[in-house]
Amino acid sequence: MQPSARLLSLIGALLLLAAQPAMTAGGGYPLDSANNDVGNIASLQRGARNFVNYCLGCHSAQYVRYNRLASDLSISEDQLVNNLMFAAEKPHETMQIAMPAEDAAVWFGQPPPDLTLVSRSRGTDFLYTFLRTFYVDDSKPTGVNNLVLEGASMPHVLWELQGLQRKVVTKDEEDREVVSLEPVTAGTLSPEEYDAFVRDLVNFLDYTGEPMQLERQRLGFWVLLFLLVFGLFAYLLKVEIWKDVK
Ligand code: HEC
Repeated sequence: MQPSARLLSLIGALLLLAAQPAMTAGGGYPLDSANNDVGNIASLQRGARNFVNYCLGCHSAQYVRYNRLASDLSISEDQLVNNLMFAAEKPHETMQIAMPAEDAAVWFGQPPPDLTLVSRSRGTDFLYTFLRTFYVDDSKPTGVNNLVLEGASMPHVLWELQGLQRKVVTKDEEDREVVSLEPVTAGTLSPEEYDAFVRDLVNFLDYTGEPMQLERQRLGFWVLLFLLVFGLFAYLLKVEIWKDVK
């Protein structure tokens, strides 16, 4: 093979690899891009509120400490205690749940997993798609199923916000099945508002998966600025040193 052909096939293989998770992680259903911004503090605050109100009843985030959360997300102690700490007494506690894992296993078939690191094991696109693709399925004990986690034992806890939807399967020109969802009942949020609600939630889980991201972004700015200024001085120094050398 010519070196250039080899390079091209290598690039092709890499591109295929990069495209793969998006296709397979969703069990065939293509994942929508979460497009969340972990530097957006307002979004993270909303996401924390959504998590505490809708998920913490079943899922812990046992590696997240309330007071660390408050300082990372610029939340005051008052706001923390009044709006987020329903499941804890002291700010240094971690986000635990009261439900014993054995009971949960009996109720749901399996215990709801801890979600601290789920954004890293599943990816943000999976989470964003998962929380938006519950559909009515009467054969399931929860009454719903999910497009990217087929047979999931989690109920659609956000159904009041999103409304209920049903699965529609059509065929494209090449006779392949195309799966889509269509609304059955309206939710209290519009589809755009619901997507934004879920994006904030996923953003929060992205943060809990790696809290240092925030610090890194803040630090990254100063590091780049330093390199820029340092680079300028280094250049001026080079010019100065070499100006007499001919
Ligand atoms: C009523 C209890 C309950 C609530 C409330 C709940 N879940 Fe779940 N969740 C479950 C159970 C049970 C599972 C295990 C499902 C399975 O694997 O079949 C699960 C699984 C998941 C998973 C899949 C984890 C994995 O890697 O397999 C994610 C992600 C998730 N939940 C996110 C959330 C989010 C976000 C919220 C808040 C909007 C939430 N859940 C609220 C019960 C709940």
